[in-house]
Amino acid sequence: MSASQELEKAATNYALEAVRLDKQGSRGLAITMYQKAIESLLQLVQLYPEYSLNKVYIQRAIAYQERIKALQGAVSPAEFREETKDSENAKTTEGGKSSYEELIVTEKPNVKWEEVVGLDNAKRAVKEAIVYPVQRPDLFPLGWPRGILLFGPPGCGKTLLAAAVATEIDATFISIDAASIMSKWLGEAEQNVAKLFGSARKSANDGKPSIVFIDELDSLMGAHSNEVGGEVRVRNQFLKEMDGIVDKGKNLHVYVIGATNKPWDLDWAFIRRFQKRILVPLPDHHTRLMMFKLYTSNLQLAADVDLHELARLSEGFSGSDIRDVCQSAHLKLIGEFFESGQATNKQAKPRPLRMDDFRLILEERKPSVSLDMLSLYNRWFEAFKAL
Ligand SMILES: Nc1ncnc2c1ncn2[C@@H]1O[C@H](COP(=O)(O)OP(=O)(O)O)[C@@H](O)[C@H]1O
Ligand SMILES: [Mg+2]
Repeated sequence: MSASQELEKAATNYALEAVRLDKQGSRGLAITMYQKAIESLLQLVQLYPEYSLNKVYIQRAIAYQERIKALQGAVSPAEFREETKDSENAKTTEGGKSSYEELIVTEKPNVKWEEVVGLDNAKRAVKEAIVYPVQRPDLFPLGWPRGILLFGPPGCGKTLLAAAVATEIDATFISIDAASIMSKWLGEAEQNVAKLFGSARKSANDGKPSIVFIDELDSLMGAHSNEVGGEVRVRNQFLKEMDGIVDKGKNLHVYVIGATNKPWDLDWAFIRRFQKRILVPLPDHHTRLMMFKLYTSNLQLAADVDLHELARLSEGFSGSDIRDVCQSAHLKLIGEFFESGQATNKQAKPRPLRMDDFRLILEERKPSVSLDMLSLYNRWFEAFKAL
């Protein structure tokens, strides 16, 4: 897994753990976990300051920070135990600032279609499912799917693709994460879901399509989620809302895009509502070549750098891995430049990147997706694509 994927996953896991502890009333531990989630999110943002989805991460970090403040300002442990007992129906936080609005991120990421390298089939499928119906609903008398599931190995562009769709069609983009939905401090989880779809419908009624984007769908809707946390009620609310948007006679442009690395964790009730299931595969040779071109376009390359050869050497790597390889090679070079003391001379420039710089990094890394995993995706796809 690439550094960014690892951080993203860590942030999700810490946040979910924090929410769990928070619900139990373990204030101290919950705070620690929220802090770890925030740290991971901030590291992620620092790793790639240009990344279009950083807004989403920052918003999440702010929401967790608000919760920490509320927990810290709360009462002493003894009183707290009392409090948690009868705070079952407390809707807002002590700070009063965290609210449903902070749960969702509506600010649009600005990802252009061309930034998504390769994935021609997935792009076509997404266009057919969302872009065309939005442009000419009159050409779809038989209706069209509202639930779209993007699945495939991590780091191959699912999030990127969803963001590109939102940019392409002037839509309200509502992005949510599992931890926020499940957290009690923002209200009861199923009410949050209802409100979420409420805003999506309102936007659509006002003439602007909405896309509800649920990244890491499995962490929220996995069949193995436990009953105690209220996950089951949330799941049912989701199913109800999804049925609501496909009701006949209402040609509302509300779309739900779910992304998951673990489609096999979803149960059938869920899979069925995502009528369109799109595999976002590992990049092939040509796509990897294009990715190396993209991620080295701002770097100085020596004449011996052969991008075709790099594409060949990176078989099995995801887009995210390739971005990491380019960045690591570059950072290593810059590090050496500083260590050699040359950087103190403001006129001095680091040497261009050579093939060996890339080779060294590639040798240290393994593809983040194994062949076994790949065949699992294909098998899942064969089993569910046509149903
Ligand atoms: N097809 C792709 N084209 C361009 N960049 C990609 C592609 N796939 C992955 N990347 C790079 O890896 C990062 C992570 O991809 P992401 O969309 O989050 O993957 P996923 O959601 O499938 O795990 C992206 O922000 C991008 O920099
Ligand atoms: Mg992603």
